[in-house]
Amino acid sequence: MTLNTASRLGVALLALALNVCAEPTAIYMDPQQPLEQRVADLLGRLTLEEKIAQLHGDSKFTTAAIPRLGIPRRWLSDGPHGVREDIGPDTWNASGHTDDFATAMPAGICLAATWNPELGHAEGQVIGQEARARGKDIMLGPGVNILRTPLCGRNFEYLGEDPLLSGRMATGYVRGAQAADIASCVKHFAANNQEYQRGTINVEMDERTLREIYLPAFKMVVQEGRVWSVMGAYNQLRGEHCCHNDYLLNHILKGEWGFQGLVMSDWAGVHDTRQAVRNGLDLEMGTDGPYDDFYLARPYREGLQHGDYPLAGLDEKVRRNLRVMLATHVLDANRKPGSLNTAAHQKTAEQVAAEGLVLLKNRDQLLPLDPQKIVSLAVIGENAVRLQAHGGESSEIKAFYEVAPLSGILQRVGSSVNVTFSEGYRKGGDTNLVERALAAARQADVVVFIGGLNHDKGFDCEGADRPNLELPYGQNELIQKLVAANPRTVVVLEGTMVTMDTWLDQVPAVVQAWYPGMEGGNALAAVLFGDVNPSGKLPCTFPRRLLDSPAHALGAYPGTNGTVTYTEGLLVGYRWFDTQHVEPLFPFGYGLSYTQFKYSNLKLVPGTNAEQPLLSAEFDLTNTGQRPGAEVVELYVHQRHPSLARPEQELKGFQKVGLNPGETRRVSVPLDRTAFAFYDDRQHHWRAEADEFEIRVGGSSRDLPLKQRYQLPVTQTFP
Ligand code: GLC
Repeated sequence: MTLNTASRLGVALLALALNVCAEPTAIYMDPQQPLEQRVADLLGRLTLEEKIAQLHGDSKFTTAAIPRLGIPRRWLSDGPHGVREDIGPDTWNASGHTDDFATAMPAGICLAATWNPELGHAEGQVIGQEARARGKDIMLGPGVNILRTPLCGRNFEYLGEDPLLSGRMATGYVRGAQAADIASCVKHFAANNQEYQRGTINVEMDERTLREIYLPAFKMVVQEGRVWSVMGAYNQLRGEHCCHNDYLLNHILKGEWGFQGLVMSDWAGVHDTRQAVRNGLDLEMGTDGPYDDFYLARPYREGLQHGDYPLAGLDEKVRRNLRVMLATHVLDANRKPGSLNTAAHQKTAEQVAAEGLVLLKNRDQLLPLDPQKIVSLAVIGENAVRLQAHGGESSEIKAFYEVAPLSGILQRVGSSVNVTFSEGYRKGGDTNLVERALAAARQADVVVFIGGLNHDKGFDCEGADRPNLELPYGQNELIQKLVAANPRTVVVLEGTMVTMDTWLDQVPAVVQAWYPGMEGGNALAAVLFGDVNPSGKLPCTFPRRLLDSPAHALGAYPGTNGTVTYTEGLLVGYRWFDTQHVEPLFPFGYGLSYTQFKYSNLKLVPGTNAEQPLLSAEFDLTNTGQRPGAEVVELYVHQRHPSLARPEQELKGFQKVGLNPGETRRVSVPLDRTAFAFYDDRQHHWRAEADEFEIRVGGSSRDLPLKQRYQLPVTQTFP
């Protein structure tokens, strides 16, 4: 159909629409009608102008209303950790509203460290409910980009180095969020693994690496999480910008995976109208107006009017936008109202934080501290009082409140223990901070040092990568002096991984706290004083030194001449450390508890029919300690003689199991054919080949006490 015919038809339809929209029972307005019929009915009522207006922003975070049809503005909002303060409408400045607070949930890396998909769901629920209460329709999270380099400024937002862990946590999150009648937006599709030159860098990688490492989390969120929107990444992949990348968006996302939602750009991530029209982009969001200058605005409209683009392509883009709108009940009176900062939200925030904290070291059981046996406690370090939620750029949250570590400790024991605070270090340094801290340390029974990183640019912050893995502000030297002044020193680190080799041997106890959100101080106090038994495990390898990490060992970061080539291929994170036999500081999947667990009696049980898993790994898990606790059991698969090179082992199953002291539970981890498969880029499909495998079970990638061989009898291939 040419545009002329369409415009005549449009005039006729407009007359009809003006007459029909007065009918409250128009199909698109009737929630009882099938979704696709509502979509088709509404699509048929739109003029060309109205269709185009649905494909791009009309402010920083909105798209245009269509008042005559009762279509409201669509409101988008960051971010992955909660509903960002209102921004704009036409600048990146905060709007200055007083009703745009939100619950600041723990950062993505902390959520991943819980290894508990149920908490992923719970975190998503909080964010979805608060989005509705704040009047938002599409929430721009979760971020699932794989942690390829420890230096990436946005690692704190993402879910670690393993595709299965990232995918499982994000799938739960999206299901929880979308249950509140909003759309989640999984991001950034794909291979946005560094902030350095993020808007232009071209990523080159082989097909197996793309399929086995960088796509699986997205695929799981699309196919199992049923996410309603996907955000293209800023970078290029194989020479084409991801926001309009034909292979990623048309071929894989919409073609192979059957994605029915909408693809939006990252802000100002669009660079070409023709590519945006043809390569699968459905919504262009951006920074500066005039918004009609956007690639999918006037240039697209003019192209259509000149007959450069088919109307069918326009309708497909609009259809996807309308589908997301109607599927999230934007037009329906019974749309869920949501809720804000409820006691349940606060409880979830604390629970995610408490389960995300990772106990890295606890020599001589210094932890948990017993308030009855401590007279004085010195809390030292600027991060003890630093509020972290309102930082990091787009994932920032204007929190209703934030319990900093010192506050949490004071609330927990302040009445029974003499707690002192000394800043110890400060950005830019200061005179006698160290001396005052050391004096406090000498006089106390126990020292709790709370340091690490923050959201300043160059640490854990969007828009830049870290220059190194070092603790800033002289913290290493301060920690050495503190533990020399008082051997009973606990080190708590906020932020993402750092090197610890200058003091780790001397320090008896270390806790990784990440960015634990607005209840973080209470969660930390609960762990330090034993109200909560820590159960977090590392979602990423902590290297002894940066050069031990694959991208750095191979000089494959940050790229040269605008291109970064992932020469490490499949060997990301523990896949590298385990295959190359490099000793990490702390391995992927590692975390201590205040109790101990024993693994025994592994049995591999083949399925007997199509309804059962291909194979189940069954084993006994016993809590052999004196405290209730939860253990993340991890299952890794090794293939003996693969026809293509494979990593030494890969995570293919995990579960979090709570046990009372002395309790034994028979645990079963199901495996299907995907647990044995690699992507065969020779045949462009997945291949689980007949071969001998080893199933390994334990509490971390480097602690797998149960091993058993398994012969996969027949090669299977699948798309
Ligand atoms: C940013 C981020 C993206 C965010 C968007 C809107 O540049 O890359 O994650 O959702 O713009 O703030």
